[in-house]
Amino acid sequence: MKITIIGTGYVGLVTGACLAELGNDVFCLDVNQQKIDILNGGGIPIHEPGLEEIVRRNRAAGRMTFASDVQAAVAHGDVMFIAVGTPPDEDGSADLQYVLEAARSIGRYMNDFKVIVDKSTVPVGTADKVRQAIADELARRGAALEFSVVSNPEFLKEGAAVEDFMRPDRIVIGCDSTPAGERARALMRRLYASFNRNHERTLWMDVRSAEFTKYAANAMLATRISFMNELANLADKVGVDIEAVRQGIGSDPRIGYSFLYAGCGYGGSCFPKDVQALERTARVYDQELLILRAVEEVNARQKYVLPKKIRARLGADLHGKRVAVWGLAFKPDTDDMREAPSRVIIGELLRLGATLAVFDPVAMDEARRVLALDFASRPELLARVEFSDTQMAAVQGAHALVIVTEWKAFRNPDWTQVRAAMQSALVFDGRNLFEPFAMAEAGVEYHGIGRATGV
Ligand code: NAD
Ligand code: UGA
Repeated sequence: MKITIIGTGYVGLVTGACLAELGNDVFCLDVNQQKIDILNGGGIPIHEPGLEEIVRRNRAAGRMTFASDVQAAVAHGDVMFIAVGTPPDEDGSADLQYVLEAARSIGRYMNDFKVIVDKSTVPVGTADKVRQAIADELARRGAALEFSVVSNPEFLKEGAAVEDFMRPDRIVIGCDSTPAGERARALMRRLYASFNRNHERTLWMDVRSAEFTKYAANAMLATRISFMNELANLADKVGVDIEAVRQGIGSDPRIGYSFLYAGCGYGGSCFPKDVQALERTARVYDQELLILRAVEEVNARQKYVLPKKIRARLGADLHGKRVAVWGLAFKPDTDDMREAPSRVIIGELLRLGATLAVFDPVAMDEARRVLALDFASRPELLARVEFSDTQMAAVQGAHALVIVTEWKAFRNPDWTQVRAAMQSALVFDGRNLFEPFAMAEAGVEYHGIGRATGV
């Protein structure tokens, strides 16, 4: 099938590459010429395991085209995915300007029947706005063309995006029941047929319910994390190991094990903005989502838990103290720093006077870029950050090590070497990578999140 992807970011590029891998002819459009140049040069603009190889293979096979030519992009696809960003507006609602601009370009250039698929995470009612934006453009041209707008939200996780896309738990598709909607349903069924070979994974529903399902899923996952973080903070006080509790409750199939890991707060481009946007939708309808407000507040506070523990142990004045930070990306296997807890932790430690040596296996360039923006008005703070080449270089002479992201490379360090390099063997682990008893055996003073350390 002929597919166009509008917006070649995380979701757009993964969607395009995976659909090309399944034999489709995919045109990836982006307004960012730099991204297009990187892709046409044989690279990819993000770090995502397995993706570069798929992109290279399909580009070489002629199944992937990258360009910024809107007219050619619209002419190409029978199915047009909109996968542009929906960042938070000032009031927390989803900013739809990129989605609606994409819709207008479709209306401006389309010359035959199109299925327009909202892949971006968008609030209930957005499909109506997309439909209207296209209809307005068609009316302006005096063109009477049929089209249908479908909602097909994406549930992939960064760091496992290809695997998630290729083996989805479910494919949610919202279609309307007009004749054009039925035509769209048939095309979508054909497009996703190979995903449903073993068993049917597609959940068909109405458009608004599909839009809402995406927010409900992210809000539920964020709620589980904030719930565990809140309990972990209590566990610290009452002498309980939250890891034992996690297993104790996760073994109940009604609860399950996933997304119950306490830590130093959730980050990323989606949980923070989607929780906010859903709250905002509720407010428009005169309802307050009390649980989600708490989820957000708990998460904002959780990003300060590690600096608080460090302060409790080393004092409120960290001048003259050197702190190593392992992990900067918001999660492992990505270079994405959007809403990363590391940014808050670094800011707070600098504010307390510490000198930092930071390291991440892949996000160093992105960290340099993002931290320069975060501290644009406080360059004297950023001057106290050293960007280390290796994890061992970061701990050299450190009074404390803070682990913020659970990269595999951090899971089994040589503690004898680490201890020898540090001024004091003091570890604050924001991802509970280690067992407190094993750290005691290794001669390391260990502070996890909710690990009954009493700090
Ligand atoms: P992103 O910022 O990585 O990519 C968006 C791309 O769209 C950018 O490259 C931008 O240049 C491009 N763009 C903007 N306007 C355009 C236009 N008019 N025409 C062509 N290109 C345009 O964003 P992302 O992380 O891929 O997220 C996209 C959407 O998918 C968001 O709604 C997000 O909530 C949702 N989502 C993201 C993830 C994830 O893991 N990142 C997962 C599921 C859903
Ligand atoms: C999340 C969802 O998991 C995806 O299903 C969804 O498609 C995506 O958002 C989206 O809409 O963009 P992502 O943000 O890429 O995916 O990564 P996650 O693995 O969900 O991690 C998000 C944050 O939660 C990370 O900071 C992670 O460290 C944190 N987390 C996750 C915890 O603190 N505890 C956990 O148990 C799990």
